[in-house]
Amino acid sequence: MANNNLPLSGIKIIDFTHVQAGPACTQLLAWFGADVIKVERPGAGDVTRSQLRDIPDADALYFTMLNSNKRSLTLDTKTAEGKEVLEKLIKQSDVMVENFGPGALDRMGFTWEYIQKLNPGMILASVKGFSEGHHYEDLKVYENVAQCAGGAASTTGWWKGGNTEPTISAAALGDSNTGMHLAIGILTAIIGRQKSGKGQKVAVSMQDAVLNLCRVKMRDQQRLERVGYLEEYPQYPHESFGDTVPRGGNAGGGGQPGWILKCKGWETDPNAYIYFTIQGHAWEPICDALGKPEWKTDPNYTTPRARQPHIMDIFRTIEEFISDKTKFEAVDIFRKFDIPCAPVLSMKELLRDESLRMSGSIVEVPHKVRGSYYTVGSPIKFSDMKPEVTASPLLGEHTDEVLVELGYSADQIKAMHSKKAV
Ligand code: COA
Repeated sequence: MANNNLPLSGIKIIDFTHVQAGPACTQLLAWFGADVIKVERPGAGDVTRSQLRDIPDADALYFTMLNSNKRSLTLDTKTAEGKEVLEKLIKQSDVMVENFGPGALDRMGFTWEYIQKLNPGMILASVKGFSEGHHYEDLKVYENVAQCAGGAASTTGWWKGGNTEPTISAAALGDSNTGMHLAIGILTAIIGRQKSGKGQKVAVSMQDAVLNLCRVKMRDQQRLERVGYLEEYPQYPHESFGDTVPRGGNAGGGGQPGWILKCKGWETDPNAYIYFTIQGHAWEPICDALGKPEWKTDPNYTTPRARQPHIMDIFRTIEEFISDKTKFEAVDIFRKFDIPCAPVLSMKELLRDESLRMSGSIVEVPHKVRGSYYTVGSPIKFSDMKPEVTASPLLGEHTDEVLVELGYSADQIKAMHSKKAV
């Protein structure tokens, strides 16, 4: 719910979003003070309310973790009454965010032209699978589809060994990432409107948002086409390269070689690993940490290029060094030498991490039906404010409140309820 002291207070957003991509965007704007009114179909609401429920009849975590700080208005926008309410809302709002399938908003009667006619200052922000005019623009898209279409899947995973198929990341590169891009677009359009007085359409396709995060792989494709190899990939120099960027396992994506290394207990704990990076100029501290002073002057090791042919042997030596240390002990040793590394943290460990609780990155939120739940708070930190995460709304919790704000009388509201328009 809007907090008047926050920077986005006074910005009214019609949140016509569902599932993850759109809701992640509007949730972020709600944290920062916007009045976000989630418009949902009466009786059903956002499909995530009932998907993967852990408590019968309570909104699922999928919903609660993506819709905090919002108000919920149920509205059947395919009825005459529902359309009228939406029109009034459009006239009074700053932004409308939607991530329906292609053409759904037009079919509902709310074309961009009509929205502009109702409110020339309106910013219409959309997520679609593919951009306007793209040869796949008619496709409906979910997370993994976007990861495949945006280059993430073809460049993630293993090129040899057991499973060599393209691989999906657990991180929501297609959904929440697209929502974050859209939030930047919306804020930019709001600032643009302060100068021009006009709203505009802002669109982010999930394919584009994934591709934007795969920028370094597009870099590598061009390098590969020019020189025929990629020296930081594990295939170099002992294996051959084809004509497209290969999957690189757990290799570092930039100029710093890195790998996932086993620690004490890996045989039974699937997360007893650290990620270790061999930063070029930190080679000498690495030698000191490992007790290998002779590597400092050995020409086979002194430069990144000299090390690359036996980089896997170097990683194996580090693995031997940490084989009797837990992932936390290993990191505690290497951090003293300024080596970029971290333990592989499980969701169980992250959920209980005291530092994340203290910083507000993981917060416990009281909820009317669930009791309370944990969610990921704002990853963006400000010096002058700490956004408070409040519970996601129950379905239609604020319907009457919003209708009153729009000027409807108690009788009119009652009539809308009986016609199931709200
Ligand atoms: N009142 C009346 N009708 C409503 C409504 C409301 N409040 N809210 C939604 N609807 C209607 C829409 O108008 C649409 O009707 P139509 O297709 O008959 O014209 C219908 O509900 C379904 O919308 P759609 O978005 O196509 O739902 P879907 O469940 O078939 O598809 C997605 C889901 C996510 C695949 C699709 O929305 C999509 O591709 N979105 C864009 C990309 C995206 O954001 N994907 C990631 C989601 S995390």
